[in-house]
Amino acid sequence: MRTATVVMHGGFERDEETGASTPPIYQTVSYAYKTAKELADIFAGRAPGYIYTRIANPTTYALERRLAQLEGGVGCIATSSGMAAITSVVMGLLRAGDELVTASGIFGGTLSLFVNTLGRFGVKTRLVDAGETDQFARAINKNTKLIFVETIGNPRMDVPDIPAVARIANEANILFIVDNTVTTPVLIKPKEFGADIVVHSTSKFINGHGTAIGGAIIDTGNYNWSKGPFKDIKHLAERAGQLAFLAHLRNLIYRDLGGCPAPMNSFLMMQGLETLAVRMDKHCDNALRLAEYLQGHDKVRWVNYPGLADSEFYGRTEKLFGGRGGGLLTFGLGDKDKAFKFIDSVRLAKNLANLGDAKTLVLHPASTIFHEFSADQQKKMDVTDDMVRVSVGIEDFEDIRNDFKQAIEKAFEGKG
Ligand SMILES: Cc1ncc(COP(=O)(O)O)c(C=O)c1O
Repeated sequence: MRTATVVMHGGFERDEETGASTPPIYQTVSYAYKTAKELADIFAGRAPGYIYTRIANPTTYALERRLAQLEGGVGCIATSSGMAAITSVVMGLLRAGDELVTASGIFGGTLSLFVNTLGRFGVKTRLVDAGETDQFARAINKNTKLIFVETIGNPRMDVPDIPAVARIANEANILFIVDNTVTTPVLIKPKEFGADIVVHSTSKFINGHGTAIGGAIIDTGNYNWSKGPFKDIKHLAERAGQLAFLAHLRNLIYRDLGGCPAPMNSFLMMQGLETLAVRMDKHCDNALRLAEYLQGHDKVRWVNYPGLADSEFYGRTEKLFGGRGGGLLTFGLGDKDKAFKFIDSVRLAKNLANLGDAKTLVLHPASTIFHEFSADQQKKMDVTDDMVRVSVGIEDFEDIRNDFKQAIEKAFEGKG
């Protein structure tokens, strides 16, 4: 099955008991067994079965099978949020004294997790420019355990050379994690370019309707756990083979951290997934048209969209995403005042902190998701004061363009 079919049929065809054609919502905390031995056998791993929804749930399991299939992975664990997915992965791998290397132009919440929260536990984070592949190699030392990138940095919109970074990680026996939130498996399957672990915030394009927070971790099967520096997982690999990392998470880290999704939210993710392929086509189409319109507008100072033919990342966009630049773009009108006036003046687009909704969304990153970073840190991340981030929706393009046209005019009213 190809991607546009897997989003609808992957991992769940019908409920075996009732024939229900959409996954039933198993809204239960726990699972009852007739005998003490049955439950004891499940706890001891001697028999399969559900124990408690914090560890596994049948609705969520349907979502996990579908996401694993979409990413071509050996398995998946769905989480309560994208942050819970990333937290589970790093807490499952790192110890005090370890280091990680991350692209610096990524989601502010992930950066804060790495720099602030992991920093409190003695893990050091080194920031590199995703566009400059050499910087990854230079930032690695004997304590480095993992490299983290986003397929397209949110909001820097830079595209790492994923196969080249994968080679660097591979040669150093370092785990390579790719956040595929903004491109989704419709535009790229990072496994094919060397990613070891793929993470998602399913709250975005996968859900697609702004109705549920969620995340996912997929082990692509590329990493050889029996050879890595992660001692406990190496040990598990003797029995669990390629499933060692997911078993380590499921039975320990994910279980202990408690970041499981609500069954209802897993159901909403399955619903969203069904239309992901057609939505991504339209997001990409509208985003390219909007980027071109903004680029041709005399009041717009700059536009950043990797799908633009003159973007410095267009070559990588072609190689990695088949030339499609996704649904996110940023642009600038010159200063913060105009960015605010633009946002105050849009009528169709919504000013909110999310992306990947079917609706067009706008946001001023410097004063919202990056507000806790100093002006100097923001500068290093290229989060400028005049930056407006747009998550381009799937509305009729003429309506989006007309909305932007009138809002840009308002932003310059009285300024000549
Ligand atoms: C690329 C990316 N990864 C991860 C996250 C975190 O996801 P969540 O908000 O579901 O915790 C976000 C949120 O904006 C994101 O944009």
